[in-house]
Amino acid sequence: MTATPASPDLKAKHRAMWGLGNYARVADELIPELGQVLVEACEIGSGDRVLDIAAGTGNAAIPAALAGAEVTASDLSPELLEIGQAHAVEAGADSLTWRVADAEALPFDDAAFDVVMSCVGIMFAPFHEKAAAELVRVVRPGGRIGLVSWTPEGFIGQMFATMKPFMAPPPEGAQPPPRWGDETHVRGLLGDQVTSVRAEKRMVDIDSFETGAEFRDFFKACYGPTIVAYRGIADDETRTAELDAALAELGDRYVTAGVMKWEYLLLTAVRS
Ligand SMILES: C[S@@+](CC[C@H](N)C(=O)[O-])C[C@H]1O[C@@H](n2cnc3c(N)ncnc32)[C@H](O)[C@@H]1O
Repeated sequence: MTATPASPDLKAKHRAMWGLGNYARVADELIPELGQVLVEACEIGSGDRVLDIAAGTGNAAIPAALAGAEVTASDLSPELLEIGQAHAVEAGADSLTWRVADAEALPFDDAAFDVVMSCVGIMFAPFHEKAAAELVRVVRPGGRIGLVSWTPEGFIGQMFATMKPFMAPPPEGAQPPPRWGDETHVRGLLGDQVTSVRAEKRMVDIDSFETGAEFRDFFKACYGPTIVAYRGIADDETRTAELDAALAELGDRYVTAGVMKWEYLLLTAVRS
């Protein structure tokens, strides 16, 4: 069956995928600084009405709330939002609203937010035009948009490229997540609905892995898309060994003295 943008099967698959493993460890141990980077880039402050799309466990939503904003954290995965809710209470940010929502069909009014942001999140909604149209729709004129996305040529983009031959083909019309890390693509998606676009490629330093094999094993245990890639070839020892080798080799190419540099695109814009 061909999946369409409205396919409930596809949404259920994606919801289940992100609930696998332990995404909270990825957010908490590897990339916590990205949420703060995004909050600062969006100049979020007291009283701002903020939507975090694909918020996961609240990597950006929680620092936004701590900055005094009125935050709605939305995500396809109720499991991740539940973990985020507990994290928020621990952090002393207990006034967020947590809402299960598909980035391609947001349950919010037009122009409802002063700031709409997404930290390596909206990029995983497969139909980019639809997600971008929803993002723009819910920001008020003059409001801010902020996005952190893995680039195609950076480490996580390369990890997805490495896993691709081992995975089931994506549904018709779906676009690869790291295209949101390509400035030209995002400018095209947002079109003339935004002004003052600023984009900058940056690196986040990851010091959790000494070897590519350590990175691979962490992702095999914690990261939904990697777990799904391995499940698809679980009956095939040769293919599994090939993916094991390919991910370890990719990781080794990026580790230098215990540090990996993962490239991302930080893009901000103002709603026209
Ligand atoms: C890599 S995680 C990022 C989470 C969080 N923003 C962070 O910085 O840690 C990707 C998130 O996108 C969410 N997601 C994937 N597809 C989505 C969709 N169509 N609508 C809403 N959220 C989605 C996943 O559930 C997951 O929480």
